[in-house]
Amino acid sequence: MSSYTGKPDPVTGRATTGHEWNGIEELETPIPRLVFFFLGAAFLFAVICWILYPTWPLVWSYTRGVLGTDQRSVVTRQVEEAAAERSAWTARVMDESPADVAADPALMRLVNEAGHTLFVDNCAACHGTRATGGLGFPNLTAKAWLWGDGSPEAIEETIRIGINSTNDDTRASQMLAFGRDGVLDTQKIDAVVAYVRSLSGLKPAAGDDAARIEAGRQVFADNCASCHGEEAKGNRDLGAPDLTDANWLYGSDAYSVFTTVYGGRQGHMPHWGARLSPLDTRILALYVHGLTRPAQ
Ligand code: HEC
Ligand code: HEC
Repeated sequence: MSSYTGKPDPVTGRATTGHEWNGIEELETPIPRLVFFFLGAAFLFAVICWILYPTWPLVWSYTRGVLGTDQRSVVTRQVEEAAAERSAWTARVMDESPADVAADPALMRLVNEAGHTLFVDNCAACHGTRATGGLGFPNLTAKAWLWGDGSPEAIEETIRIGINSTNDDTRASQMLAFGRDGVLDTQKIDAVVAYVRSLSGLKPAAGDDAARIEAGRQVFADNCASCHGEEAKGNRDLGAPDLTDANWLYGSDAYSVFTTVYGGRQGHMPHWGARLSPLDTRILALYVHGLTRPAQ
């Protein structure tokens, strides 16, 4: 602070600094005490914080403060608490039979919540967020299972090993290319297509008269029944679809069915055994299984 005092200001009687601009002089006004008070208080506050909390970085460590607070341990504890809370129900999901878990609505609520997230992250790209599928990708809510009985166990197995996947145990789905491989000529394919479409009551395409459908019946018995069954009800060991229902993976119009029989179909579903934990796989299987049941 300047020790110089100019002549006192005639109006206020205060000392002036002696600086002068065009006749205007500057008063020598001291900094208000309050400013020093807050400066001192802030400094004191800082010192108290240094003592109480972790503050100064040292070479290998840092000053820890007398309160011993540590954000990292707080987070660790919260994570442990959350894991313990989760493990209470996840342990039941792994230990109890899928049927028991599926029968417990409170538990299934947690399963469905986690399952939906897993499904959207891993499965929705192909099966859709609502699991209703699309052309070439099965609708998982339709109860029209290709593989197994639609039990959580069967679904879990599909997820684990995949279909036509690179897994050694993969489910193998082979609809043969009857036309391309020269097994059936176009006339026979037209006939069997007409027959197959008649099984699910579809409107006959042009030229699909009773004679053609009848001829198709024989072609079917000779070439198709081994996989799709005499009644065309499908075979869930082979992934051969039921051809009498309203679910069509690859389309039901005459052209689409012709394409299926002519060129064959080999659906591809990746295997998740190496990517998802057994728990996540179980949760997904229960979730997908639950999709086919009416909402509670
Ligand atoms: C790259 C695409 C793709 C992804 C991703 C995918 N799937 Fe599939 N999934 C398929 C195809 C294609 C089929 C049908 C294969 C066939 O034709 O037999 C299938 C079949 C299934 C089936 C068997 C349906 C039945 O009728 O038996 C289940 C269950 C299934 N998927 C569940 C899942 C789950 C759960 C996930 C996520 C972890 C998933 N899929 C991810 C393509 C996929
Ligand atoms: C070796 C067993 C096998 C034989 C034989 C076979 N199929 Fe298939 N078929 C399958 C399998 C498996 C699928 C499912 C393919 C997939 O999705 O990966 C399928 C799918 C189909 C589909 C598609 C159904 C849909 O939902 O879109 C039609 C149609 C069909 N077969 C008709 C026939 C006809 C007609 C014949 C005889 C000419 C025949 N299949 C012979 C195994 C067979």
